[in-house]
Amino acid sequence: MIRKTTYEDIPELMEVFQKARAIMRASGNMNQWNDGYPSEEIVRKDIEKGVSHVLCEEDGRIIATMAFIPGPDPTYTEIYGGQWTDDSPYYVIHRIAAAESGNNAASRLLEWAFTQTDSIRIDTHKDNAIMHHILDKQGFTHCGMIYLANGDPREAYQMSLKANKYKALYYLAKCYLEEEDDLIANMANLSAMIHREFGFWWTGFYRVVGDKLVLGPFQGPTACTRIAFGKGVCGSAWKRGETIVVPDVEEFPGHIACSSESRSEIVVPIWREGHIVAVLDIDSEKLGTFTETDKIWLEKIASLI
Ligand code: SME
Repeated sequence: MIRKTTYEDIPELMEVFQKARAIMRASGNMNQWNDGYPSEEIVRKDIEKGVSHVLCEEDGRIIATMAFIPGPDPTYTEIYGGQWTDDSPYYVIHRIAAAESGNNAASRLLEWAFTQTDSIRIDTHKDNAIMHHILDKQGFTHCGMIYLANGDPREAYQMSLKANKYKALYYLAKCYLEEEDDLIANMANLSAMIHREFGFWWTGFYRVVGDKLVLGPFQGPTACTRIAFGKGVCGSAWKRGETIVVPDVEEFPGHIACSSESRSEIVVPIWREGHIVAVLDIDSEKLGTFTETDKIWLEKIASLI
């Protein structure tokens, strides 16, 4: 069972850190956490903020712990020698430690963490072979190097379920769309694939027909059928010739509300031979669903049409 740490857990937790340190030393990681880190003071602060978690055995014994903290993390602002997987909102895991090795305790904590968020960033010492192995096994990407507040370098990793899903979707879409050049057939399959993978509120296309956008293949509730050039998010993306990301539709002047459930939106123009022939429009019933990650991947996917 995974639960939040309480103040009563502190003595047991400090023992877990002690055992984790011994495991590190035995595996040749001689310099990480050798200054008494994480101190009881840090642990107390984590508990106070509600970010410290423990993994317990059925008898209640604590076998592992982590601080699971909503980002952004100031030490992750700059990354060297590479880049983060994506820029979507993330959680950070610090102070992850297991009292024993070989019982998948750290992996269980990481798997639980992905039930709470789509994206996690984490760093570890270059000599922490055990942690590098766990992160690789869980599918994290090694992104580069970051520096802690005290100047120590650490290897930085991220796993973004959104980026992973888009990557898989891109290759699947490639297989379907490469064989077919009919625009409507491709729009139909693409809206189905995106909608199914992400479970958005509305996923579909508007085709350029004369001076209007006309509703094309889509998935989701019924929608407005015609949108004028420059009107709404769709007409604006057509006019500007670029993708528009709208974190809050109420903040977008002239947004056309086909459904009151829609809270955020992205519109990606579809180009053929130098002209916009359609737009891909996706709506979410949550605020701020779409970020640079969606823009990059949806543009890549839209270019397959
Ligand atoms: N909100 C869009 C209209 C299309 S529906 O969202 C499906 C817009 O402002 O262009």
